[in-house]
Amino acid sequence: MIKMKRICHLIFRLLFLLDGGVWSLRNLSISVPRAVLSGEGQSAVLRCSYDLEDAALYSIRWYRAETEFYRYVPREMPPTMVFPLPGASVDLTQSDYQQVRIVNLNRRLSGDYQCEVSADAPLFHTDIRSAPLTVVDPPFRAPHLSLSRDSYARGDILRANCSVDEAYPAPNITWILDDHKIAETVSWRTSDLDFKERGAFSRLEITILEAEHYKMGLTYTSASLSRAYQDNYYGYEKQPEKEDKEVLRYTLVPPPTGQFSLSCVATIYDIYARKSEPIPIREDAPHPASVTGEDSSGPLVSHSAVLVSLCACAVLLHTL
Ligand SMILES: *[C@@H]1O[C@H](CO)[C@@H](O)[C@H](O)[C@H]1NC(C)=O
Ligand SMILES: *[C@@H]1O[C@H](CO)[C@@H](O)[C@H](O)[C@H]1NC(C)=O
Ligand SMILES: *[C@@H]1O[C@H](CO)[C@@H](O)[C@H](O)[C@H]1NC(C)=O
Repeated sequence: MIKMKRICHLIFRLLFLLDGGVWSLRNLSISVPRAVLSGEGQSAVLRCSYDLEDAALYSIRWYRAETEFYRYVPREMPPTMVFPLPGASVDLTQSDYQQVRIVNLNRRLSGDYQCEVSADAPLFHTDIRSAPLTVVDPPFRAPHLSLSRDSYARGDILRANCSVDEAYPAPNITWILDDHKIAETVSWRTSDLDFKERGAFSRLEITILEAEHYKMGLTYTSASLSRAYQDNYYGYEKQPEKEDKEVLRYTLVPPPTGQFSLSCVATIYDIYARKSEPIPIREDAPHPASVTGEDSSGPLVSHSAVLVSLCACAVLLHTL
C-alpha cells in the first residue's frame, strides 16, 4: 500500500517535471545565535530557512560537529527523530521543519552547527549550511579594577589593572574613561575545541599631560582606540614577561574640573557585559596655570574630557 503510494507520488512528480516544473532547493540559510548562556533554563533556537519552490520537503537534519542530533522527515510518523546530544536536550515542542530548540546547554556544546535540507523525490536536492555557536560560562564576579593612585599631578603616569575571573570563552576587557571607550584587550586564540575557562587581565597606563598640549589641537577620536591581544591559548600565567608588552598606553589631557573616572568592562560577545566599580580620579591640587587663564578656559577645551591617544599622535605625525 505504502509502496503504491510512493510510486504514484513518483509518477506525479515525473509528470510535473515534464510539465516544466522545477523543484530545486534554493536560498538555504542558517540562523544561529553567536552565543548563548549555559545552564538550566537557558536555550538556543537554531533556524534554517529555505525555498523548495515546487518540491516537497524530504528531510531536515541538524548536526553538531558532524554528529546528527535532530531529524525531521514529514513523510514518517512521527516525523521527528532525536539523537543523543550529551550536555543538552532538544525541546521537541518547539522543534519542527524549520527550527530546533536546544535547552540546558553545557559549554562543551560550543562549535559549528549544521542544517541540511533535502527536497523530496525525484531529485532529492540537498544542501547544507553551517554556523558557530558558543555556549558561554560567564565570570562569577564583576571585573576587579585596581589603580596605582587615585589622584594625580600633571605629568604623572597612572597605572591601572583590570582582572576578570575565569570564564568560557575568555572575556574581552574594555577601558572606559568617563563615558568613552579608550582601549581594549582582546582575548584571542581561545581554542573553541578545548573547553577550558580562562581569566582575563588588562594593564593600562595613562599619562596625564600638561595643559599646554591643548595647543596641539589633538582630540579624542574613536579611531584612536588601542587594542592589545591577549594570548589565552598559552595562558598568560606561563609567560608573565609577555604581559609587559601588552600594556595599553593612553595620554590624557584632563578635563577642566580635573576629575574623571575610570572603569573596565568584561564582555563576551553580545551576551555578557559587566562593569567594574568606577574609580573617581582627582587632581592633587589646583593647577597653578589657572591663574593665567590658560588651564580650564583654554579655547580648545569645550567638553568634559579631551583624550589624546598615542595612536592619534602617530597618525598626526605620519600625515605631517
Ligand atoms: C532566492 O534566490 C533567488 C535566486 O536563486 C534570488 O533571486 C532571491 O533574491 C532569493 N531570495 C531571498 C529571499 O534570498
Ligand atoms: C598590576 O599588575 C602588575 C602585574 O601583576 C603588578 O606588578 C602591579 O603592581 C599591579 N598594579 C596595580 C596598580 O594593581
Ligand atoms: C573580542 O573582541 C574581538 C574583536 O572585536 C571579537 O572578534 C571577539 O569575538 C570578542 N570575543 C568575545 C569573547 O567577545
